[in-house]
Amino acid sequence: MSTGLAFDREMSSRLEKQYTRPAMVLRRAHALALAAPKLGEDVLDVGSGPGFLTADLAAGVGEDGSVLGIDQSEAMLSLASERCAVWPQARIEEGDAIALGGEDGRFDLVVSTQVLEYVAEVDRALAEIVRVLRPGGRVVLLASDWRAVAWHSSDEARMDRMFSAWEEHLAHPALPRTLGRRLADVGLAVDRIERHSIIERAEDRTGYSAMLVGAIGNFAVGRRGISEEEATAWAGDQEALRESGEFHFSMGQYFFCAERR
Ligand SMILES: C[S@@+](CC[C@H](N)C(=O)[O-])C[C@H]1O[C@@H](n2cnc3c(N)ncnc32)[C@H](O)[C@@H]1O
Repeated sequence: MSTGLAFDREMSSRLEKQYTRPAMVLRRAHALALAAPKLGEDVLDVGSGPGFLTADLAAGVGEDGSVLGIDQSEAMLSLASERCAVWPQARIEEGDAIALGGEDGRFDLVVSTQVLEYVAEVDRALAEIVRVLRPGGRVVLLASDWRAVAWHSSDEARMDRMFSAWEEHLAHPALPRTLGRRLADVGLAVDRIERHSIIERAEDRTGYSAMLVGAIGNFAVGRRGISEEEATAWAGDQEALRESGEFHFSMGQYFFCAERR
């Protein structure tokens, strides 16, 4: 059994589709407002995924600036390269968050949205971000708290089992709780923390929760004793709750904005 979630072609294209939805466009606008790229700046996007934010940042820095998007997934690299092709100031390269390479202090801004929770050596990744930032440079990070998802179920024990299996999809399921301390430890001054909420309604059948039903359902089978039947019953319960009007899904994602001292 593989550990962690594979950002293969199927998962990457599910996420790409998800990121075009209005709620995710608004989340990206929130990230962009916090990052506030300026003309001529040099920016790094760690774990650029399908490259939506990378492309927005490229537009923000203009042709006198630069944006480098790095990712480990071949499928994501290909989506981002295609998306950013219209921006000559954007480059997409294979890279690892824990070994960014290149010169110290070469970026004005580093962003990384929903990536660090997947990196086992997260403190090493943060130290790398600090290394490549110039003094006074800015950081904008986004991480989810998977342990604080409010998702109604008619079988809470089964929901807990599904979520304990889903925790294996990443290295740090509750990263926002320790991120402030971790940032301070590597020499970053946190100047802002903002919560971004995802709240969905029963009729929102193409939303984040609908995507998660598929992703968690596939991922959980064979972990923590979860059978195919149990995962199917869990997904069926969600559908029934949508029909009966008892559906509720909400979760928090946290932006951390910091500056290199
Ligand atoms: C949930 S996606 C987020 C993508 C993008 N940042 C966004 O918000 O649209 C997580 C991404 O992190 C990448 N990733 C995970 N671990 C990584 C690592 N150690 N180095 C670089 N990228 C990594 C994955 O390949 C995937 O593209």
